[in-house]
Amino acid sequence: MRRIAEKQFSPVPSDGREFGQLLRTERLAAGYSLGALAFKLKVTKGYLSRLEQGKAKPSKPMIARIAKTLTIDPSSLFVLAGYLPTDVKRIFYRYPVEAPAVLRESFSEYGANRDWAEQPKKKLKPNTTTSRSAHPTVNLEDLYEVVHADCFDWLKKRASNSIHAVVTDPPYGLKEYTPEEKSKLRRGHGGIWRIPPRLGGCTRMPLPRFTVLTDEDRVALKDFFSRWAKEISRVLVPGGHIFIATNPLLSHLVYLALIEAGLEKRGEIIRLVQTLRGGDRPKNAHKEFDDVTVMPRSCWEPWGLFRKPCEGRVQDSLRKWKTGGLRRVSKEEPFCDVIKSAPTRAIEREISPHPSLKPQAFIRQIVRAALPLGEGIILDPFMGGGSTIAAACAAGYQSIGIESDPEFYEMAVKGIPRLASLAPNGDSNGTLLPSQGKIYGQQQTLFGR
Ligand SMILES: C[S@@+](CC[C@H](N)C(=O)[O-])C[C@H]1O[C@@H](n2cnc3c(N)ncnc32)[C@H](O)[C@@H]1O
Repeated sequence: MRRIAEKQFSPVPSDGREFGQLLRTERLAAGYSLGALAFKLKVTKGYLSRLEQGKAKPSKPMIARIAKTLTIDPSSLFVLAGYLPTDVKRIFYRYPVEAPAVLRESFSEYGANRDWAEQPKKKLKPNTTTSRSAHPTVNLEDLYEVVHADCFDWLKKRASNSIHAVVTDPPYGLKEYTPEEKSKLRRGHGGIWRIPPRLGGCTRMPLPRFTVLTDEDRVALKDFFSRWAKEISRVLVPGGHIFIATNPLLSHLVYLALIEAGLEKRGEIIRLVQTLRGGDRPKNAHKEFDDVTVMPRSCWEPWGLFRKPCEGRVQDSLRKWKTGGLRRVSKEEPFCDVIKSAPTRAIEREISPHPSLKPQAFIRQIVRAALPLGEGIILDPFMGGGSTIAAACAAGYQSIGIESDPEFYEMAVKGIPRLASLAPNGDSNGTLLPSQGKIYGQQQTLFGR
């Protein structure tokens, strides 16, 4: 039997500082001053300030009131204040060995980014220029630009050699983001969008069914990416990288289109993530063939990695264009092509409820690696709910996001500052924490010159 040392157990709750940090981030993101929120909650400014400093413990009704006023899900506030959901507590009492083991197995390695974690914490100064940004050292608004447009139109007008990396998750099923399919999605039934069954009482995000594409659709898909790759190739600087999310059924079409447009395939990033795709028994014959799975249960998501050919050697490209390689995690550790990842967290989906929102813990690792010297502009031409742009802000990178759908565009406008203000993944037990501005420390040195 493995022995567990006494020091591996810590009291619950913690000292309340994490609750206070989250409260402060959410208050700033909602545009409240300390006084204004205290007035709204009918408490004193001093009490609210003590809550934010972790010096007072909020009651459960107080947490519910805060969540309602800030229009956020109360779950994270409850947990960070030391209140575990009763059913979860029961599971822990009943399975004291198994429950922690299952959680560790599922969450402990998600999104670990030692480079961020190693950076010294910087104190936030009061923000004088924008009430919605929690990151005063550099105005977030100066770091990124979001555009409501069709990316093909936008790309045509963009100057050649003016983008340093592309990180994107395109509508690779093509159909799912047509007006027709989006209206079916918003009505909650039918079409290409599959609404997965509720699990443990939780409604899950809809998933597009890629298998319904016809041969004609596949030709159209290849053509779409051929046109796209041509435009992207022109606006990228030599040596600039493209990270493009895809799926195992269609990746070959996407990759071929990019290669034919003259881009070099440089590898593939494997996002290890448990999805609900595949793993089913034959339809209408599942009892007869109960030992059969039609397709493997998908446990990974491929991200194609491409590069516009360098002019000369990589070192020449790095000097001239600031591109050609990938940023290391640290001096000792290169960027690796397998990344363990959780599905997007509830708090992020609540901030930006796009059906394909990528988790910050994952996308920040990709975005950070895309600029080898941390300089240049990242483009996401299929911005969706803004996860790439938020990740770029968190790394202190300049970025541009393009989104053609007006609702998703508005979602991104509202969601980016809040997604950017979350810590990539928080502490080792997977708690998502507000970032304390530590990753923003880089902004001034990278872009303030
Ligand atoms: C898969 S989603 C991206 C999700 C995003 N990565 C996120 O984390 O929220 C693709 C997005 O591209 C948008 N889109 C589709 N065609 C587009 C086009 N031609 N130009 C710009 N955006 C487009 C869709 O409306 C959709 O929001």
